[in-house]
Amino acid sequence: MAKRPIVLAPDPVLKQTCQPVETIDDDVRLCLEEMLETMYAAPGIGLSAPQIADGRRLIVCDVAREGEPAAPYQMINPEIVWRSDEKVLAEEGCLSIPDQYGEVSRFREIRVEYLDPDGAKQEVAADGLFSACIQHEIDHLDGVLFIDYLTPLKRNMILRKMKKLKRQQA
Ligand code: NI
Repeated sequence: MAKRPIVLAPDPVLKQTCQPVETIDDDVRLCLEEMLETMYAAPGIGLSAPQIADGRRLIVCDVAREGEPAAPYQMINPEIVWRSDEKVLAEEGCLSIPDQYGEVSRFREIRVEYLDPDGAKQEVAADGLFSACIQHEIDHLDGVLFIDYLTPLKRNMILRKMKKLKRQQA
């Protein structure tokens, strides 16, 4: 297992629509393990496949607080099957957009269906940070970043900073 490099925005890889996984095999399971390892090392609370330049509908997350036992989720083809009417505004960041934050409105509660690494169908109810995290990661699978919800002014400011960061790292 290996930690994978995280793709930084702006990058066309982060704007693609990811493809559903047809067959859950060792390659998919390895990818999910590497995603978790990459997320924990960052450290972060969620990661999607496009962030490691993989075009499959895979996300991982763990919103356990420090001192709490780890609560990793590995989701294949996740789909939101129910949304609360109520939305909440909260600050978000993204491992592909380091050190930049913005307020995003998300459904307070959701229910998500997905396949686990054994291919079993699962459904989970999420609220609070867990709910926002899953919505953020599923957005990634459709090429949507949290900065896409900000005003053009704020988004462009963040993108300028990211381009500068990428030039410095090149
Ligand atoms: Ni993100």
